[in-house]
Amino acid sequence: MSGGRFVVTGTDTGVGKTVFAAGLAGHLGVPYWKPVQAGLDEGTDRETVAALSGQTVLPEAYRLTTPCSPHQAAAIDGVTIDPARLVPPEGPIVVEGAGGVLVPLREDLLYADLFARWGIPVVVVARTALGTINHSLLTLEALRSRNVPITGIAFVGDENVETERVICAMGQVRRLGRLPWLDPLDAENLRAAFAAGFDRAGLQ
Ligand SMILES: Nc1ncnc2c1ncn2[C@@H]1O[C@H](COP(=O)(O)OP(=O)(O)OP(=O)(O)O)[C@@H](O)[C@H]1O
Ligand SMILES: [Mg+2]
Repeated sequence: MSGGRFVVTGTDTGVGKTVFAAGLAGHLGVPYWKPVQAGLDEGTDRETVAALSGQTVLPEAYRLTTPCSPHQAAAIDGVTIDPARLVPPEGPIVVEGAGGVLVPLREDLLYADLFARWGIPVVVVARTALGTINHSLLTLEALRSRNVPITGIAFVGDENVETERVICAMGQVRRLGRLPWLDPLDAENLRAAFAAGFDRAGLQ
C-alpha cells in the first residue's frame, strides 16, 4: 500500500510519464507535483496534467528555462538545485521526475538518489516499442541497487505481448497495465483508457 503516494519515473524522456501521471492523479483524485521543470517555452508538464486530469497541480520548486538535463538547465540559469526543496509534501500525491532515473539534478545527485531518499513507491513508465527491454531492465536495476521501492511497470503504446511479458518476468516486476496511444489525447479519453488499462488493486 502506498498511501496514495507515487513517484512516476520512466525509461527515457518522452515515453509518456506526464500523460500516465495525469491518468494516475485523475484515477486516484490526488494532486500532482513536478519538482523540477526544465524548459518553459513549449508548455510545462504541470499545465498538461492540469488539462488532462482536472486535479490540483502544485507549483514547481524549480522552473528552469532550458529544455535539457536539470543539472545543465540549472547552471545556465545560475541556480544550484537544493534537494531540501525537493521533498514532496505530506499526503497523497503523484510526483513526476524528469527524463530517466540516472538523470542528474547536480553532479552529485541523480533522480534515483532522490527517489531513494524519499522512499515513495515508484512506477516505471516504459514504451512498448523496440529498445524497451534494455531500457526497462536497466532502469529496474538502477532502482533496485538503491533500494527504491517499485510498485510496478506501466507500458505506453501499442500492445507488445512478448516484450511486456519478458520485461516483467526478467525484471521481476508487476505489470500494472498499458495505456494505448490516444487520438485525440484529451481528459475524457485518458480517463476511459486508464480505467480500462490499469488494475486498480495495483495502484492503491
Ligand atoms: N498515451 C498517449 N497517447 C497519445 N499521446 C501520448 C501518449 N503518451 C504520451 N503522448 C505524447 O507523447 C509526448 C511525450 O509524452 P510525455 O510528455 O507524457 O512524456 P514524458 O515522459 O513525460 O517526457 P519528459 O521526460 O519530457 O517529462 C507528448 O507529446 C504526449 O502528448
Ligand atoms: Mg513529463
